[in-house]
Amino acid sequence: MEALNAKNQDPGRPRTRLINVSNRLSVTVTKNADGLHFEESVGGLTTGLASLSQDYEICWVGWPGITADDLDDSQKQQIVNRFAETSTCPVFLSTEQVEHFYEGFSNKTIWPLFHYFPLNTVFEDRYWQEYQRVNEEFCSAVLDIAGPDDCIWVHDYHLMLLPGLLRDKLPSAKIGFFLHIPFPSFELFRLLPWRRELLTGILGADLVGFHTYDSVTYFLNSASRILGYEHSMGTLTADNRLVKVDSFPMGIDYERYSQAPYDEKVRSYAAEIRRKVGDRKVVLSVDRLDYTKGIIERLEAYEMFLSEYPRYKAQVTLIVLAVPSRAHVDSYMQLREQLERLTGRINGEHGAIGWVPVWYLYRAVPFEQLIALYSVADVGLVTPLRDGMNLVAKEFVAARTDGTGVLVLSEMAGAASELGEAIIVNAHDKHAIVRALAEALEMPREEQIDRNRSMQERLSRYTVKRWVADFIETLNDIKSTQRQHSVRLLTRPDKDKLVASYKKNRNRLLLLDYDGTLVGFVDRPDKARPDEELMELLKKLAADKANEVLVISGRDRRTLERWLHGLGVCLVAEHGAWFSRHDGQWQMAEAFRSDWKQVVKPILQLYSDRTPGGFVEEKEFSLVWHYRRAHPEMADVRTKELIHAIANMTKNLGVGVFEGNKIVEIKSAGISKGRIIEQWLKTDVWDFILAAGDDYTDEDMFDVLPPDAFSIKIGTSISKARFNMDSVRDLRTLLKQLSNVTVWTAP
Ligand code: ADP
Ligand code: G6P
Repeated sequence: MEALNAKNQDPGRPRTRLINVSNRLSVTVTKNADGLHFEESVGGLTTGLASLSQDYEICWVGWPGITADDLDDSQKQQIVNRFAETSTCPVFLSTEQVEHFYEGFSNKTIWPLFHYFPLNTVFEDRYWQEYQRVNEEFCSAVLDIAGPDDCIWVHDYHLMLLPGLLRDKLPSAKIGFFLHIPFPSFELFRLLPWRRELLTGILGADLVGFHTYDSVTYFLNSASRILGYEHSMGTLTADNRLVKVDSFPMGIDYERYSQAPYDEKVRSYAAEIRRKVGDRKVVLSVDRLDYTKGIIERLEAYEMFLSEYPRYKAQVTLIVLAVPSRAHVDSYMQLREQLERLTGRINGEHGAIGWVPVWYLYRAVPFEQLIALYSVADVGLVTPLRDGMNLVAKEFVAARTDGTGVLVLSEMAGAASELGEAIIVNAHDKHAIVRALAEALEMPREEQIDRNRSMQERLSRYTVKRWVADFIETLNDIKSTQRQHSVRLLTRPDKDKLVASYKKNRNRLLLLDYDGTLVGFVDRPDKARPDEELMELLKKLAADKANEVLVISGRDRRTLERWLHGLGVCLVAEHGAWFSRHDGQWQMAEAFRSDWKQVVKPILQLYSDRTPGGFVEEKEFSLVWHYRRAHPEMADVRTKELIHAIANMTKNLGVGVFEGNKIVEIKSAGISKGRIIEQWLKTDVWDFILAAGDDYTDEDMFDVLPPDAFSIKIGTSISKARFNMDSVRDLRTLLKQLSNVTVWTAP
């Protein structure tokens, strides 16, 4: 395997191990009377990973494609030994496992449902049981070889539980997961009785990748509605760990497909096919024999085309190349029969002496023959009903060395978002396919070249090597971001250190957020007034001459003044727009604008009126939409719409839109707790800093503090603060302890 070829390596540099786990390996083992046979297929993934061999030692874990019950011990050993040469660890599956895990849960449950065929979906508990067991076996196989610093990349729908299982055993491992098929919309995904387990399994990864942005959106939506995980820009927190979800459209080995047509063997195959087809135009259809590929619909459309455009009779040949696939699964057997009947009917009804309208081949062909077909065809007809990506479409375009040829592509293939110059059709609309065929067969040569050149340029840039590199780089990035943002509960020894430092130092700054930090959340913001205990506590802390106590809040200044005046604390209102020192006058931190409020307020009002339980709060430099009391699902939808609407309307108004704890806040740009604290820090030399806060606005404050400051996030979600604390009560206990500290002063 090229991946392990040592020729380009720097011998002095240790390489990280990349363990690549997929149900299928690039080598499939078969058995006949002569013994075992090893068939290698150079898939795109193998090539992509091989390009990382400078930095990574690549290992593979997967099923060799043969049922373990067909093998005796010595044959198993033979497979293990042979695979060891390419750092591959086989996972053997018994007959029952193949039936229930591979053909069952993977291909009768997940495959149809994720491709929007709910009626083909089988919900069987024993399939699910086996799916769990096989995922556990894959987990043990990975654990047998994985070291703590290895990078583990799990592929596809057969192994959705694996990232979670690995995470339980290797909490700090670097794990990526890529789904090669579409992720369905919530309405379909929710049909699965095991939806929670599957989502949790996938979210054991640090990076979750899909081919398309649609799949990313659907996945995030399911994670939010089923597990309650909200995301920000595709990153969410699962079990106190950041997980990034993003799209990585898989590319092909462009070089290989664009060079292959020059190969002698390919040219001679191509010439042979051409000789057999004569002057007729060739339409090519290449897929695994799968009901998601729309092969039946495609043939029916071709039949319709022959009826509607009789002038093409005997002028065109459709070559249907169908690779045998999952042949023991009922729906695949039925499809094969249906396809063969249909082919027979079309040839019988439309054919003539010397002209067979459909050439049907049910087999896998060697690479050279496939390329020969790509290069001979005038039209590539790729019309899946639903497809994660569809590499055939990309390969067809890449193999058109002279730029001619027309790709007709279904809008339901992931590839459609990258191949916009193809003739795009709705694969269910046979009339549209008929029109597309006519258009393709009549398209002028220059236009064909024009379209293909743009697509080729794109395909040559985002190749499978780039895809692999992009995924692994993003995985490394999210891992380092996690290290910066981790949850670390303030332990007893940390607390002792904090108190000791407080005792020792005489110029202390205490920065305390109000809502969610000093007081808990209540239904309405005006009900969160400070209780006696809190007022006493703040008064006592502020009375200590060594302390400067700041209550730094998003509240408006009038409220803060009404509630906290007279305690001797400094106040910061509206996230840093206003401040007052020790019960003094309010001052504006900078000259902020508020004229944008006239534009935004009516929109907020409208959303509020349409959402029972929501209301708008107005402050001098910000407007806030509160939805704590609204119906959660409705609020979720409205919030997204609202953020979108406001972001569009306020592009040039100098405002920022922020999502907080059951609120959306729109405020003048430039106002932040970070900005005002940065100024405050400069007003003295502080030898002890304590900062506590609970939401996104406090992150700005944590961000500007010196590294030795004691910053505490209330709640156990990821934060820039050094420590996390469970609750408001815990913080109050700590503050009480500090307020009781008696400082030894020199006599
Ligand atoms: P899927 O992954 O669903 O099978 P793709 O189009 O993404 O669909 O990938 C199919 C792969 O199989 C392509 O790389 C294609 O070259 C290869 N392939 C398709 N048909 C044949 C065939 N008859 N013989 C050999 N390889 C084939
Ligand atoms: C799709 C899936 C792959 C699978 C391939 C062939 O591309 O995404 O995971 O390996 O089809 O299917 P098979 O069932 O033969 O592995």
